[in-house]
Amino acid sequence: MTDPTSIEGFAIISEDGMLADADRHIPPALVVEADQKFFHDNLERAAVVVQGRHSHEGGPRADSRHRLVVTQSVPALAPHPTFPKALLWNPRGASLEQAWARLGAPDGMLAVIGGADVNQIFLKRGYDAFHLSRVAGIRLPGGRPVFPDVSPTRTPEDILAKHGLKPGPRRTLDRTAGVTLVTWTR
Ligand SMILES: NC(=O)c1ccc[n+]([C@@H]2O[C@H](COP(=O)([O-])OP(=O)(O)OC[C@H]3O[C@@H](n4cnc5c(N)ncnc54)[C@H](OP(=O)(O)O)[C@@H]3O)[C@@H](O)[C@H]2O)c1
Repeated sequence: MTDPTSIEGFAIISEDGMLADADRHIPPALVVEADQKFFHDNLERAAVVVQGRHSHEGGPRADSRHRLVVTQSVPALAPHPTFPKALLWNPRGASLEQAWARLGAPDGMLAVIGGADVNQIFLKRGYDAFHLSRVAGIRLPGGRPVFPDVSPTRTPEDILAKHGLKPGPRRTLDRTAGVTLVTWTR
């Protein structure tokens, strides 16, 4: 078996669709306990985590996870210099199935944890689910978007819908902080 059983994306964004500010800092307003709990609980279901160089879930269990770090710095696949159980992966040089086999990961869910370019790669391949948390009242103009094409006239929701995903019910994660979660599925 060299395939994910499902592909699920995770992000918490500002009102204007940003993951982080222009300096790649996540402002404290986007670090919300209820969302962190949702995120980390769901990562327990993941067989593999895929991320960009500037993204990482942190936490005590991170080193135990199989991980792909997407980069153009290698032609195809190479050991990660610091993370255990991780590979550097250039999708132009190796398929996801080849990367999965090289990791020696078990069957299971692929968790896509950003940033924008990594999220975009899996938009094209097709998410089974994208878990989008949003913090009302926080704007990060010039920040790092959840998808590269987010703009004042194109919201993350527009982009998910264009790629065939449909929204589930809106859940409130933290009423005081204005944080909601919508899971989009195919
Ligand atoms: N709020 C949230 O939910 C959330 C989630 C994730 C991240 N974040 C934050 O948001 C920021 C994200 O930073 P970021 O946008 O720079 O994202 P990033 O995904 O962490 O970094 C970009 C990655 O994409 C790779 N890449 C880009 N184009 C590529 C291509 N054509 N082929 C292969 N690899 C390619 C880059 O590789 P090379 O440059 O190595 O070639 C790099 O590893 C960070 O501050 C992070 O902490 C927030």
